[in-house]
Amino acid sequence: MKDMYILAIETSCDETSCSIVKNGSIDVATIILSQIDIHTNFGGVVPEIASRHHLKNITMVIEGCLDKAKMKMDDIDAFAVTYGPGLIGSLLVGVEAAKTLAYIYKKPLIPVHHIAGHIYANNITKKMVYPLIALVVSGGHTELIYMKGEYEFERLGGTLDDAVGESYDKVARVIGVGYPGGPVIDKMAKMGTHEYNLPIPLNDSSYNFSFSGLKSAVINLSHNCNQRGIELNKENLATSFQDVVVETIVKKTIMALKDKNVNHLIIAGGVAANSGIREELKKECEKNNIYCSYPDLKYCTDNATMIGAAAYFAYKKGYTANSYLNANSNIDLV
Ligand code: KG4
Ligand code: ZN
Repeated sequence: MKDMYILAIETSCDETSCSIVKNGSIDVATIILSQIDIHTNFGGVVPEIASRHHLKNITMVIEGCLDKAKMKMDDIDAFAVTYGPGLIGSLLVGVEAAKTLAYIYKKPLIPVHHIAGHIYANNITKKMVYPLIALVVSGGHTELIYMKGEYEFERLGGTLDDAVGESYDKVARVIGVGYPGGPVIDKMAKMGTHEYNLPIPLNDSSYNFSFSGLKSAVINLSHNCNQRGIELNKENLATSFQDVVVETIVKKTIMALKDKNVNHLIIAGGVAANSGIREELKKECEKNNIYCSYPDLKYCTDNATMIGAAAYFAYKKGYTANSYLNANSNIDLV
């Protein structure tokens, strides 16, 4: 079969990214323009500012990606874009850019769900093997997905309130260690001990998660310490928080693998970079003869390479869109 080069665009949050991906697995060239320095000043992503920066940068990022790949638009076989979920203004910039390119160059337009993208980050350089369970942990999502085959998704469960990355970011804000909080808390967790007794979230036999109670417990603990003039040990708090998060995620993921009788786990999303989750899942998987794989760190957080990888398989399943494609800020994967 002829090679297929997909030019993919991802603008669902605060990264303006374009990538050219060959056959759903080879990263030919990728550009990721992060706005993190801008949003850090506000302690989180400001949607209006994010969409304005996407608009300013999208053409430059697409042209930069083609230059990096030493390719021309005529070499591209299809265009792909994240159409949701995400920030509506940000998504719209990518969707309109991809629609315009597909129209001008008369090539297929492939709509990709952001979570499908995170999952297919695992197909870059390695090959995904089915059936599998995908644990998707990011700033906006915490989901357990069962995949019987290529581009077939069954949602087993997910968070009922905050996403795991969101809870990391909120805890980081409470203890004043900056944004995004995940990497900082992860680093601090390695330096502390489990001193604070925090509640284990939704400790039941469902595949669902809940992190808002845990976040509230951290906020209350911080306020209590302030009122009583006691200094909170931030490293110990980070360790206590991360231990509880890791415990609940690992427990439910292993439960899903056993219930579904699946021995292949993939981990996706920004929080897949978390060292506690990586180490503990690796250990538990080894114990249970489960093959566990992660994307390279650079493909864990938002990028267009993962969108180009997913798009190849979406296209093979017949998913294409026309110029009526719209962004959807809140759309389920299944
Ligand atoms: O997937 P992503 O780039 O964006 C979304 O689609 O949400 O994930 C970003 C999230 C942020 O909440 C960030 O704090 C978290 O991933 N994160 C981490 C780590 N690295 C990034 N959380 C915990 N530990 C980390 N090492
Ligand atoms: Zn993401």
